[in-house]
Amino acid sequence: MIAGMLARATRVMFTPLLPDDFLAVVNPLWSARVPRARIVATRRVGPATTELTLRTGAGWHGHRPGQHVGLGVDLAGRRHWRTYSITSAPGADLLTVSVTAVPDGSVSTHLARVARPGDVVGLGPAAGEFTADGPLLMVSGGSGITPMLGLLRGGVGDDVVLVHSGRGDVVHADDLAALPATVHRHDSRSGRLQPADLDVLVPDWRSRTLLVCGPASMIDAFSAAADDAGVPCVVERFRPPETVVAEGATGGTVTFTTSGVVAHADAVTPLLRAGEDAGALLPSGCRMGICHTCVGRLTSGAVRNLHTGELDTAGQGDVIVRTCVSAAAGDCAVDL
Ligand SMILES: Cc1cc2nc3c(=O)[nH]c(=O)nc-3n(C[C@H](O)[C@H](O)[C@H](O)COP(=O)(O)OP(=O)(O)OC[C@H]3O[C@@H](n4cnc5c(N)ncnc54)[C@H](O)[C@@H]3O)c2cc1C
Ligand code: FES
Repeated sequence: MIAGMLARATRVMFTPLLPDDFLAVVNPLWSARVPRARIVATRRVGPATTELTLRTGAGWHGHRPGQHVGLGVDLAGRRHWRTYSITSAPGADLLTVSVTAVPDGSVSTHLARVARPGDVVGLGPAAGEFTADGPLLMVSGGSGITPMLGLLRGGVGDDVVLVHSGRGDVVHADDLAALPATVHRHDSRSGRLQPADLDVLVPDWRSRTLLVCGPASMIDAFSAAADDAGVPCVVERFRPPETVVAEGATGGTVTFTTSGVVAHADAVTPLLRAGEDAGALLPSGCRMGICHTCVGRLTSGAVRNLHTGELDTAGQGDVIVRTCVSAAAGDCAVDL
């Protein structure tokens, strides 16, 4: 209510400037144009993992179970966006995510080890389709437990078996017992969890839909096994596939025509990251080519798909590119 009154008052006083800009100065969470969240609590849930509890501000439109959210963190004067699975149930007042610090990881190390209650972070929209119906078998490794927590806390599935693999100190170990699922913990110190283990742990696994999230090798092994068995399988990857670098590829100057931001990008840096590093506020979701949140029309020049090496050139019909998996192939312009 207070935010609404302030919005009306500032609109009268400061037109044509945006009232939102002034509200953000009073309280960063009141801006609907640039959504943000405030960290209200942190909790260590694994040796390198911290759960962040966030109060979302104006402009947040909620989420569905299994979705993820972009968090923006300012480091050395630049905003960096990364994606984190939402572990809290939809509709709750507060949002939770759990961040595992990865070696040399700038944002994860900051969020897991440095961020404190009171800190404000950028907030993207919820995105993702990691979910399924009917009897489920969830297979997770390490920090891949997070989307499973979000699904189970969000009430997805009334017949769920969760097989979670981790080394010694399992991420979210204390929370597993409270989940509405039959939980099997696998200690990966005694050997990598294999699809063949399912015959012992979950004998009826072929009558369930698999949901898998964890290291790439785990996802590849279990999705191949599901394929062989004719079992439906939905996967969530935290890291994009390896980048394909075309021989002799050069980058170029990228113009984001809507924001007017101009970035210089090499041949292996996604347009999304190049634009953000140059100060553009660009739409993004998964940041790995799945959700299509980041798309823009290529209005001039050419871009190369970082996963397939394919070239898209403006003028060949309506060329819509995913900025998170496309790099400049010479100077180009995108209408974002
Ligand atoms: C859909 C989705 C959901 C995700 N959910 C979560 C989540 O719930 N919790 C969570 O902790 N992370 C999650 N991630 C991963 C997260 O977005 C970041 O990639 C991760 O935190 C690393 O970011 P960084 O800035 O620290 O590393 P960067 O600075 O981007 O990379 C530094 C180094 O770490 C390597 N690296 C990057 N990502 C990973 C990774 N995931 N594991 C190991 N090494 C990596 C890079 O190759 C590079 O060598 C999710 C990613 C996606 C796409
Ligand atoms: S951010 Fe999801 S496809 Fe680009």
